[in-house]
Amino acid sequence: MDKHERLKVAVQKSGRLTENSLDLLARCGLKYTRGKDQLLCYGENMPLDVLLVRDDDIPDLVQEDVCDLGIVGLNVVEEKRLGFLARGRAPLFEQLQTLDYGRCRLSIAVPEKMPYSGPASLAGKRIATTYPNILSKWLADRGVRAEVVVLSGAVEIAPRLGRADLICDLVSTGGTLQANSLREVEKVFESQAVLIRTPVPLPPEKEDWMRRMLVRIDGVQQVKESKYIMLHAPRSALPEIRRLLPGSESPTVIPLDGLGDKVAVHAVCRENVFWETLESLKGAGASAVLVLPVEKMLA
Ligand code: PRP
Ligand code: ZN
Repeated sequence: MDKHERLKVAVQKSGRLTENSLDLLARCGLKYTRGKDQLLCYGENMPLDVLLVRDDDIPDLVQEDVCDLGIVGLNVVEEKRLGFLARGRAPLFEQLQTLDYGRCRLSIAVPEKMPYSGPASLAGKRIATTYPNILSKWLADRGVRAEVVVLSGAVEIAPRLGRADLICDLVSTGGTLQANSLREVEKVFESQAVLIRTPVPLPPEKEDWMRRMLVRIDGVQQVKESKYIMLHAPRSALPEIRRLLPGSESPTVIPLDGLGDKVAVHAVCRENVFWETLESLKGAGASAVLVLPVEKMLA
């Protein structure tokens, strides 16, 4: 396969999405070597390479057809999309499924001493952000006129430097806000990781790999929390046990030789299984309870 036939996936170089994204691709079966420049991961067992780039560049790379697939935060995608919309155009990337990690929120935060009693308190204020499109829309939707100060980084120190009165920035743990004596007052946008792809049709072999990767990513997403449970129980306890198994479809019930009324129950649970669940199962008559992680699942 020649070089241009290799699928290119854009992933954030270093940040909240990096580790989970590389881990996701590895769970899809990808083995890669990281280049000396640390910017390209070469796929050894698939015609697929990973480009490590700034998250803000990912939509453009996909849009300009440099990359076929990208993993990026919804916050970045939404900011780009609104930018296009404002210019009367549609973005040239397709948004696919959200991935269950990289959760954070874009929030408005004010200096601890600044009074705040709702969006009207923002009127006439200067708000520093790297997300001017999302923020402007949020303000416009509420009929608030404020000045949006566009910065390219270090937003959290803008109020102290006198460049703005308050900020609108990403928050996940809240540590950055706390360290800068800022108070979160409004959630503007909720974000998590999302897949985007080029809308351009790919050569058949490449398209085939794209399709296979998307199916695998879906499979990985589905088994993430899934557990396989095996237990023994008296047949009479089955209705109660079925009720207790979190997110499982019909479990397999197997008679146990020589154990009279006892049966073995095997089930895939689509949700995490907590100790509390095991204790309830035991209370309902289950014994020999075993919980195993599910590695792969193909529906
Ligand atoms: C965001 C934001 C804060 C930090 C907040 O930056 O700008 O600096 O995360 O996280 P916390 O609430 O856990 O302290 P990020 O690392 O996403 O960089 P980016 O904006 O360049 O993507
Ligand atoms: Zn960024």
